[in-house]
Amino acid sequence: MQPLSLVYVHGYDFREGLKKIRSITDNPYGVNILVEKSSSAYENRMRGYLEIALEEGCRFFITALGNPRWVVDLVKKHNGIVYHDVVERKWAVKALDEGVDGLICVNNRAGGHAGSLSPEDLYKETSSFGVPLIAAGGIGNENDFKRMLDLGYDGVQMGTRFIATFECREKNTYKEAIVNAKEKDIVLTERVTGIPLSVINTPYVKSVGLKAGPIARWLLQHRTTKSWMRIWYGMNAIRDFKRISLKGGTSKDYWQAGKSVEHIDTIEPVEAIIKRFSSIL
Ligand SMILES: Cc1cc2nc3c(=O)[nH]c(=O)nc-3n(C[C@H](O)[C@H](O)[C@H](O)COP(=O)(O)O)c2cc1C
Repeated sequence: MQPLSLVYVHGYDFREGLKKIRSITDNPYGVNILVEKSSSAYENRMRGYLEIALEEGCRFFITALGNPRWVVDLVKKHNGIVYHDVVERKWAVKALDEGVDGLICVNNRAGGHAGSLSPEDLYKETSSFGVPLIAAGGIGNENDFKRMLDLGYDGVQMGTRFIATFECREKNTYKEAIVNAKEKDIVLTERVTGIPLSVINTPYVKSVGLKAGPIARWLLQHRTTKSWMRIWYGMNAIRDFKRISLKGGTSKDYWQAGKSVEHIDTIEPVEAIIKRFSSIL
């Protein structure tokens, strides 16, 4: 569960949102903490979310983007578990030095901020650490799932597959675009967050291009202005996500998706997906 989505997209007070999840299921759930150090206000807000999640009994956390140390320090006091998103060996070494328990291996087929290595190469780079490895990226159907387990991964993380479900609150045009897209339709754009982001290559995306504009690019190259740009991009992303999710989007929206679209052929209930995936185990 992503705190910014729970609070800003779905409009819950964070603690109330967690209580709502707990009222629906006794099963474990995880909270995603983006640890990027864009400002102390941002970090304080994330720290607040983490403390509340621990108070509410959550014990599994996925960190991404920056140094996970402060999350590890807090979570370990409660005997919790932290997995960190990595795209190559260098970041895995750093995260493990900071005390994380497992790695989410984000490959070059992922939706969101994709890595640059294939699932096979990323497995080779990380398998010697002896910690649990989760494959993220490109898993659209149960055969993709099985292939990741056969490669040696302990599990998978999926994003795009769950957007094309009845339960997801996104609008139908986005879900249908996922179903209709093939992997050749997925491109990386810098125009949403300043870092390459996987999106469907719609006519709008084609018309505006994939590179950040010259001013944005200049600002992203400098340490201080980079932080401002990230905050600005982040605020825009939350605003757009909220508008698209709750009010319906326009043809000028970015539809994030990974190369997993290749094997996503229907909009269906989450339960059907989980049952199909479980059937191959
Ligand atoms: C619309 C969208 C939003 C995402 N938001 C986040 C996020 O907030 N935090 C995060 O760690 N990963 C995020 N991801 C990445 C997913 O957690 C996952 O690693 C990725 O979707 C896997 O690739 P797949 O889409 O091919 O399944 C997002 C992915 C998508 C498609």
